[in-house]
Amino acid sequence: MRLIIAMALVSSLFVACALAQAAPDSQNAEIIAAEAWAFPGSSTKARSLKPDPHKRLHVPGSTRTYTAAELNAFNPPDWFPQDHPPMPQIVAHGRKPVLPCALCHRPNGGGFPDTASLAGLPKAYILEQINAFRSGERGKGLGGKQAQGSIIGQEMAEEARGISNTELQQAATYFSTLTLKPNLRVIETATVPKTHWHRWVLVPDTGDTREPIGERIIETPANVVLDDLDDPHSGYVAYVPPGSIARGKTLVAKGNGTVRACESCHGADLHGVGNIPRLAGRSPTYIVRQLILFKLGGRTNPEAAPMRAVASQLTLKDMIDAAAYAASVKR
Ligand code: HEC
Ligand code: HEC
Repeated sequence: MRLIIAMALVSSLFVACALAQAAPDSQNAEIIAAEAWAFPGSSTKARSLKPDPHKRLHVPGSTRTYTAAELNAFNPPDWFPQDHPPMPQIVAHGRKPVLPCALCHRPNGGGFPDTASLAGLPKAYILEQINAFRSGERGKGLGGKQAQGSIIGQEMAEEARGISNTELQQAATYFSTLTLKPNLRVIETATVPKTHWHRWVLVPDTGDTREPIGERIIETPANVVLDDLDDPHSGYVAYVPPGSIARGKTLVAKGNGTVRACESCHGADLHGVGNIPRLAGRSPTYIVRQLILFKLGGRTNPEAAPMRAVASQLTLKDMIDAAAYAASVKR
């Protein structure tokens, strides 16, 4: 994501301790360990390109160009304006000091693994989640070693408190009328490239070293240079453990002894029903992160109660399987 964040460390440590005490068993320890990849690591690095501020930057297929000097938090790139309707001001440029939604969710609502896709979410769900961020029922951050350095959700809580109700209506209408165009390849593999954090996503180390995937999902830009320019077409690759997509398909459709079938609420192929959000084609890192948040008490708005009950039954493996399958649904 697109800004350098370095604050609230103390308060997130505090929340970390409180949550760790509430959830001491070994299954939760496994889940807390997963925060190392499901929550963005702290990262202070700027874009890897250090372009001449006046050089015109391009991405393939776009007729637009920007200089690095033109791009800033209140003017994120909109490489493909033909992909979406005209953006309301709050989405495109924000209202200082309130940041534009497009900075973190992209103009087409496709989002980043460290934020959320918003395209096509039900308007009522968007309004409800903003209320949850405003009240602190969502977005208070969550502990764990890696997550201590990140304040995932806290910047969204600030944003939710910063926008007016009129701006909220405009943004919610805008994103709910878009259609999500999944831009992700899901690949089952026993080994993955070694990665490190760069601008809140995992990118491969130089020099092709691989390591076992273990119980992880590694979601990485298909093209790091284009991703650095926020090119919405270059997409991501999600490496998932062998067999996870098929296991996830079964879990999602049928549940298991204790877990209810996800499709019974999220609809056929996880396309969403009523105000229950779509999961199909969304970032698997985002999905696992939210499952962890539901399980450990990071989403406590009343509407989340059924989902918290589901998440309390999930092992880390179940979360990875369900997310691998959901991300692989192309329709
Ligand atoms: C500085 C970055 C940033 C900006 C700007 C931002 N968001 Fe977010 N947003 C996030 C992050 C990060 C999350 C995911 C939080 C989490 O994982 O709990 C998120 C999550 C959300 C969600 C929840 C999605 C879901 O599926 O539950 C909604 C809705 C949302 N944002 C709406 C907006 C709107 C509307 C705007 C503009 C008014 C906006 N955001 C601006 C970072 C941002
Ligand atoms: C009993 C109904 C129910 C079942 C079963 C269910 N969910 Fe949910 N789920 C919900 C509701 C309701 C929400 C929205 C919560 C809110 O409004 O705050 C939700 C939200 C989510 C979210 C957050 C999406 C977002 O945009 O942030 C994820 C991820 C999720 N569910 C995954 C799953 C998975 C995986 C399963 C199966 C293992 C599952 N759900 C089963 C009702 C259900």
